[in-house]
Amino acid sequence: MDFEILKQECLACRKCGLCETRTNVVFGMGVPTAEVMFIGEGPGQNEDEQGLPFVGRSGKLLDQYLEAVDLYRDKNIFIANIVKCRPPQNRDPLPEEREACLPWLREQFRIIRPKIVVCLGRIAAQQLIRPDLSVTKEHGQFFEKNGVQFMATLHPAALLRNPRQKPMAFEDFVALREKINQICDHTY
Ligand code: URA
Repeated sequence: MDFEILKQECLACRKCGLCETRTNVVFGMGVPTAEVMFIGEGPGQNEDEQGLPFVGRSGKLLDQYLEAVDLYRDKNIFIANIVKCRPPQNRDPLPEEREACLPWLREQFRIIRPKIVVCLGRIAAQQLIRPDLSVTKEHGQFFEKNGVQFMATLHPAALLRNPRQKPMAFEDFVALREKINQICDHTY
């Protein structure tokens, strides 16, 4: 299926209760040919209002880390979330909401075919890498699954709450740059 058709279908989704309270579906943004994908948890208030991922304070911080390793949303990556609609009061997405939403992400993976997937925070990491993964202990490590390299790093919102963790996240982006240099063809 074509990426634009997938997007239009996703924007009309009513497969879980979050459709009742959302303002906009946040399908994701970036280039559909990206070799590197970033996956967050779900839209917050700013994202819900604008229909774009990571556009609030944590998004600004994410952009700084991305820029530090020459990654840009409009150039060489794609950013999406586990759930495409905002959970009320920013609560964790419920298991049934994730289950309902995951087919959209699977289709995004199928079309984009990333070589590297970076999970931003616990929810994405436990959903996509391993249910008992500890982001604090295992951030920056690469896990191979079906020929794709997965890595977890700290969620930028966690870094805003706890700035002492920022150097840990920076190391992860440096490791990411090395991995890109090793296995990607056209990211840099
Ligand atoms: N936090 C997320 O996990 N995703 C967003 O899109 C914004 C904030």
